[in-house]
Amino acid sequence: MIEGPGIVSTVAALRVRLAAVRQEGVRMGLVPTMGALHEGHLSLVRETRARCGLTVVSIFVNPAQFGPNEDFARYPRTFESDCAKLAGLADVVFAPSVPEMYPEGFATRIEVGGPAQGLESDFRPHFFSGVATVVAKLLIAVMPDEATFGEKDYQQLLVIRRLVADLGLPIEIVAGETVREPDGLAMSSRNAYLSPEERKIASHLNVVLRYVAKKVYDGEPIAAAEADGREALFRAGFASVDYVAIRDAGTLAIIDALEQRSRVLAAGRVGTTRLIDNLAV
Ligand code: PAF
Repeated sequence: MIEGPGIVSTVAALRVRLAAVRQEGVRMGLVPTMGALHEGHLSLVRETRARCGLTVVSIFVNPAQFGPNEDFARYPRTFESDCAKLAGLADVVFAPSVPEMYPEGFATRIEVGGPAQGLESDFRPHFFSGVATVVAKLLIAVMPDEATFGEKDYQQLLVIRRLVADLGLPIEIVAGETVREPDGLAMSSRNAYLSPEERKIASHLNVVLRYVAKKVYDGEPIAAAEADGREALFRAGFASVDYVAIRDAGTLAIIDALEQRSRVLAAGRVGTTRLIDNLAV
């Protein structure tokens, strides 16, 4: 449970805290987050808790995954209310400082190929190396039996699976289902940036993904369905559309025709807020 001793801010203290539990053979689960916790995160924590004897939640706004003109400085930081939400759900909150994760002289970055190429990388070239670097550090610090990542960031989930497989880390990567608002908008800490007017426009992202999935399922060629999706997002009021793409769900490779496991993914801006979402087709 979250009390003073449940919150640790250094890797050394975390290792001490976890050592005894590890020796007892208790299954450990990690849910990495950047805080500003919402129901989407909490559902991942609940699922982890149901499977594991000890649940660690990390809260770290990772500067390495933000570009120079992105929202690192204004990313919501709500540590106290995050800890209150985790009371009774997490056993340990790992909340390191930036120098704890990136001490002076830190000079390593992990680059993942494969699923990291294209889509998000075309618009946020720094993003996946920043995520891969911090996630590798978090996994090595905790060495959990499993770690859970939301399907909302579907490409990130595949990148982390690739990372863990390639580094040979003996950690199961679990996918958590996207939690949505009643109108279908995927929960995201960045939804807090939206004005009431923008919030209405944002709800179209999920509607358009469903529309594209249905079109292609009904036989429309993939490129035409993607173009229809872009147009529908602009019509709904999106300021820009980075991509609407139907890809292989396992590799994110470009496909010519619908496959058994396909995924439709989209990213765009409402006002200045960038939103992403995806669905199984
Ligand atoms: O999805 C997120 O919140 C972040 O990208 C993650 C995985 C916690 C790494 O900073």
